[in-house]
Amino acid sequence: NWTTGNILEEQVERIRQQVGDARVICGLSGGVDSAVAAALVQRAVGDQLTCVFVDHGLLREGEAEQVERDFVAATGVKLYVANEQERFLSALAGVSDPETKRKIIGREFIRAFEEAELAIIAEAAAHGEKIKFLVQGTLYPDVVESGGGEGAANIKSHHNVGGLPEDLQFELVEPLRALFKDEVRAVGAQLGLPQEIVGRQPFPGPGLGIRIVGEVTRERLDLLRRADAIARAELTAAGLDNDVWQMPVVLLADVRSVGVMGDGRTYGHPIVLRPVSSEDAMTADWSRLPYDLLARISNRITNEVDGVNRVVLDVTSKPPGTIEWE
Ligand code: XMP
Repeated sequence: NWTTGNILEEQVERIRQQVGDARVICGLSGGVDSAVAAALVQRAVGDQLTCVFVDHGLLREGEAEQVERDFVAATGVKLYVANEQERFLSALAGVSDPETKRKIIGREFIRAFEEAELAIIAEAAAHGEKIKFLVQGTLYPDVVESGGGEGAANIKSHHNVGGLPEDLQFELVEPLRALFKDEVRAVGAQLGLPQEIVGRQPFPGPGLGIRIVGEVTRERLDLLRRADAIARAELTAAGLDNDVWQMPVVLLADVRSVGVMGDGRTYGHPIVLRPVSSEDAMTADWSRLPYDLLARISNRITNEVDGVNRVVLDVTSKPPGTIEWE
């Protein structure tokens, strides 16, 4: 596609002109935007770029590996990984309120990222160099939205892990500022990024932390990750990835219900499937997924995930429901 080719070359040229021979830093969230922005800058200025990935332990199965292994293999980017799972778990201990969770995750994320920055600044200083630029994966719709008050943003504070602290010591590089999401995906594909990253559904910055209704613990995260992986694998196997906007899988950790398994009684947690169709996440309808697919997901989750004895389907539109449960 010649249009995408033009966008790519034009942005690479622009980045080279802006950055010169200075050093650049970029945060990776696991999402499409930060990955494509980083890959463009890498294409433009190579090793002058260092990427930072703060692994908060709230991503879905395989996503940290997609960043650390597949993204690095596809781009050759220099990556600094901060393993911060423990930090987020202890900061979240005892917390159930959704907005408090968001604030804690946002706060810890910024702190962890700043610590990583300091380490990279020190490494650059050892070579007599300075970090001058910070890459952000801001898209055109973000630019437009940040002017006005967006309704949903007032209902839930959106801490976007891709978008970072207003770090005044850096100049911003925003190579996606003129692009829409589908253009970003096309550029990402052209840069050779893996389909799992380029085709990724929207995923909230606070991650699985707001898909556990109740306190976030390591055990609950592991359980939810397994259930979510099963639901996603079956959706993909049915060829229906493009039929849903996103499909949150939610663990009702504060709810238990009675079930039966073999000769015994169980007392386990429900998993909620929340597949939705939407254009922009501002409004949404629940997706009419085929019954046999729902049955497969339900059978597999209740059989394969210890502690879950019920799978329920959310059939609420937005409004009045939101897409996420928290
Ligand atoms: P709701 O639940 O408000 O979600 O209908 C609308 C869209 O926003 C995503 N979402 C978030 N994204 N940080 C984010 O970066 C957040 O705290 C957050 N909360 C919700 C949600 O996945 C959906 O795409």
